[in-house]
Amino acid sequence: MNSFFRRLAILSLLSISLFSSSTLATTVLAIDYGSDFIKASLIKPGAPFDVLLDKDSKRKIRSSVAWKNGERLFGQDAFNLATRFPKDSYSSLKYLLGVPANADVIPYYNSFAPLAVVPSTRFTAAIRKGSSSSSRGAGEKNGAAPATWDVEELVAMQLAYVRALAVDVAGRGERVQDVVVTVPAFFSQFERDAIADAVELAGLRLLALVNDGAAVAINYAMTRQFPQPERHIVYDAGAASTRATVATFAGQGKKQDATVITVNGIGYDRLAGGTELDRRLREVLVEEFEHKHGVGIRDDPKAMMKLWKEAERLKAILSANTEASSRVESVFNDIDFSTKVTRQGFENICADMNLRFVQPIYDALDNANLSLADIDSVILTGGASRIPMVRAALAAAVGEEKLAMNVNSDEAAVLGAALHGATLSRQFRTKNIKISDIAPYDVQVSYLAEAKSTDASGASPRTITSLAFAKGSRTGTRKTLTFRRKNDFSLAFSYKEPPGSEVPVELLDVRISGVAEVLANITEAGGVDPVIKATILFSDSGFVSVPEAIAFAEIKDDSLAGKLKGLFGDGSSSAEDGSTSTVDPSVSSSAPKAAKTPATPKDLTIPLNVTVKFPSVAPMGLEQKREARQRLIKMEAEEASIAAREEQRNILEGYMYKIRDLLESDSQHPFVRHSQESERRALSRELKDVSSWFHSRADDAQTKDFVEKRTSLEALERPIVHRIKELEEFPQALNVSQMWNWHARLFLGEARENLTAEERAGTTGRFAKTELDELEKALREHETWLNEWVEKQKAMPMNYDPVIETGEMRKRAKELETHLQRLVQKKPPRVRPSGGGGNSRTIQVPLHTDEAGKSEGESPSERTSRHEEL
Ligand SMILES: *[C@@H]1O[C@H](CO)[C@@H](O)[C@H](O)[C@H]1NC(C)=O
Ligand SMILES: *[C@@H]1O[C@H](CO)[C@@H](O)[C@H](O)[C@H]1NC(C)=O
Ligand SMILES: *[C@@H]1O[C@H](CO)[C@@H](O)[C@H](O)[C@H]1NC(C)=O
Ligand SMILES: *[C@@H]1O[C@H](CO)[C@@H](O)[C@H](O)[C@H]1NC(C)=O
Ligand SMILES: *[C@@H]1O[C@H](CO)[C@@H](O)[C@H](O)[C@H]1NC(C)=O
Repeated sequence: MNSFFRRLAILSLLSISLFSSSTLATTVLAIDYGSDFIKASLIKPGAPFDVLLDKDSKRKIRSSVAWKNGERLFGQDAFNLATRFPKDSYSSLKYLLGVPANADVIPYYNSFAPLAVVPSTRFTAAIRKGSSSSSRGAGEKNGAAPATWDVEELVAMQLAYVRALAVDVAGRGERVQDVVVTVPAFFSQFERDAIADAVELAGLRLLALVNDGAAVAINYAMTRQFPQPERHIVYDAGAASTRATVATFAGQGKKQDATVITVNGIGYDRLAGGTELDRRLREVLVEEFEHKHGVGIRDDPKAMMKLWKEAERLKAILSANTEASSRVESVFNDIDFSTKVTRQGFENICADMNLRFVQPIYDALDNANLSLADIDSVILTGGASRIPMVRAALAAAVGEEKLAMNVNSDEAAVLGAALHGATLSRQFRTKNIKISDIAPYDVQVSYLAEAKSTDASGASPRTITSLAFAKGSRTGTRKTLTFRRKNDFSLAFSYKEPPGSEVPVELLDVRISGVAEVLANITEAGGVDPVIKATILFSDSGFVSVPEAIAFAEIKDDSLAGKLKGLFGDGSSSAEDGSTSTVDPSVSSSAPKAAKTPATPKDLTIPLNVTVKFPSVAPMGLEQKREARQRLIKMEAEEASIAAREEQRNILEGYMYKIRDLLESDSQHPFVRHSQESERRALSRELKDVSSWFHSRADDAQTKDFVEKRTSLEALERPIVHRIKELEEFPQALNVSQMWNWHARLFLGEARENLTAEERAGTTGRFAKTELDELEKALREHETWLNEWVEKQKAMPMNYDPVIETGEMRKRAKELETHLQRLVQKKPPRVRPSGGGGNSRTIQVPLHTDEAGKSEGESPSERTSRHEEL
């Protein structure tokens, strides 16, 4: 089934014809960053549209990073390490993105992950380094490396790993930089900031975040047309959470070649997912182990991780079987554990989860103000949607007939995100799919009412709060807030309700400054009734921001127009403003050019300073990001240098074996036949030296030492290798040389005959006598040279360097060939209509096979085979 959808996706994109419209080769990477698995897809002109494979050819990549003896591991290897080194293996980090260090999700995370989550400098979640990951940094000079990883850094490492996989696919020269990342629709701005920071630390550039439900909807629309609008719920039960997205699909345009997807509502349960089921299943295993063997294992992270891995395995088996037997070796104190779990037993302990898996659908419908009857189908995605218990609960809730399995439940989100990225990058021609998503939370804005100067009571000014973006607001919404202010002021953005348990509501403090100075300038310029306008934005990626604030006024009094002109140029061209203003060229007038008549009011717009502070969960600062990025780059460079050393060490070792084998081979081996005793002795001596160096010193040696040793061996082997190659190529080179002698001789014979005939007939031939004499001379010289050296070469013993190099032979043969070709390709003289002798036909090829007998000792067969090359 998977491969069917995969084919479908590939076929559909072929018809969409993904090709770059620019000559600059560009790629877009899409990443579906899940709690358990990362799926990624690279869009590249000319390459098939598919998911990226992990190093072990898996279509999904474990979201893990680990350290083993200071070496970094990724993917499944990193995850597996947790059963032996639980403190050095970091997984399920999505739970921790953008959460404050005291959030409720952290004890939850620690109920299955034995890692020490501590506050970062920003009071977000950081993880204390295990012994293996901190060991390398310990010796650093410039103060010890931090003892913790910010979660963003660990996620960045995983993203950088994915990037490296993509670079392998794209080819070294290709730039893999632009990325689209999926996030759950419920991600708050804190969480979005965290993933955006991780993207940056990984050396990638965020094109957009896309809600995963919307990404699946895009994937669904990729292969379909919607002459009638359709409405579906994209249901995604993942590892960490469950989401439902109500979306309407409508065709657009005469040919229905565009699709508009409108998200109508979302519902979610942040903690209902596969991981919660694993947790419960492991609890059963732990209790049974403790009961059976009479020992407590909860404080033993290795034992707990072994049973954690086992619980995940059992859950998968129980999806297809009604019971599963479990056997884990040496769980604790060398005690092996075996048990049997039934699907019924598993479902009993998860009975309360049924409603939690279904509730997001009801919530999404509520949020959309729709009912089940308005829905055409529920499109199932996410690993947990394949669990029989979850499926049964869904069927009971919405009716079996509404459940649709018409997208690839693992890959639809990443493939949809990839198409979204291709659309955004504008480098590709793609199916036109527009998506309009919504805000998951109410965002409000507060500010102090301006204190009235007449108010002598001294009462502090009132705080005014209003909804900036209501829950359900469209992504990409821009609004203008207008204020009458004389002084600097602040806008405080906050969530109306906490976006998570024990998560703060304060979002941004935006200070608008420079008001007094700018207003003074406006007054000076004759502006009246100035107001402050702040633009607020809920972006396509779901970020709230204040892109700009301006002071604005109309200029009514024409007597001041001259003043204005003096201050800001003529007020109609911003370019002139820039050149006449000595300070910030940011003053411009938005008055239309036609407004030259004094009576027409002119607008005056001056930008104000906007500075943002993060009152609660802050994203990484610029300096902090720089440092973290440097740490990652350094780590990658060290790893690359270790890998290079390892490679050179292996190459040298392999080479030593090869030389040893050559030296030990029998007398018929070309190496022995073509080498001298003394050469072999020297090589053998050197090999002995290098081997003993290798066995005693290799562990401390550096890359260049391995290269040096190999080079010293190669210096002794190379002459022999060269000799063998020369002797091998000699017959072929001789063949070619003789062939051109032969061609040239045949050509000369024929041409001279023709010349004689032409002279006799008094006509002008194609070739002058001197031309033919020159060729003859070149041919003679070549023949003489060849004969002389071939004789010498034949007298040489097999184990001496050849006296004549095949390169030289080929070069001389080529000279003769070129000379001959020049004549052959010479245009015949103009045809005389009366001629009739047929003398003027163009010679295509100088020779005929039946004249072969004229050349001495040459094989005629070669001519036919070389024929076409002339
Ligand atoms: C919800 O839908 C009903 C019926 O279509 C409509 O009357 C009502 O105003 C809607 N409510 C909101 C909040 O959109
Ligand atoms: C805006 O900020 C910059 C840098 O802090 C400052 O130099 C400039 O004067 C400010 N402009 C206004 C209008 O306050
Ligand atoms: C205000 O006007 C003064 C004098 O022309 C100028 O130097 C300054 O840059 C202006 N300030 C702003 C914020 O436009
Ligand atoms: C010699 O003349 C014959 C007959 O015209 C022609 O076909 C042939 O190509 C000529 N050969 C050369 C080498 O010019
Ligand atoms: C020389 O070339 C001919 C034709 O290509 C080939 O049949 C023959 O085997 C070659 N001889 C040698 C010694 O390579």
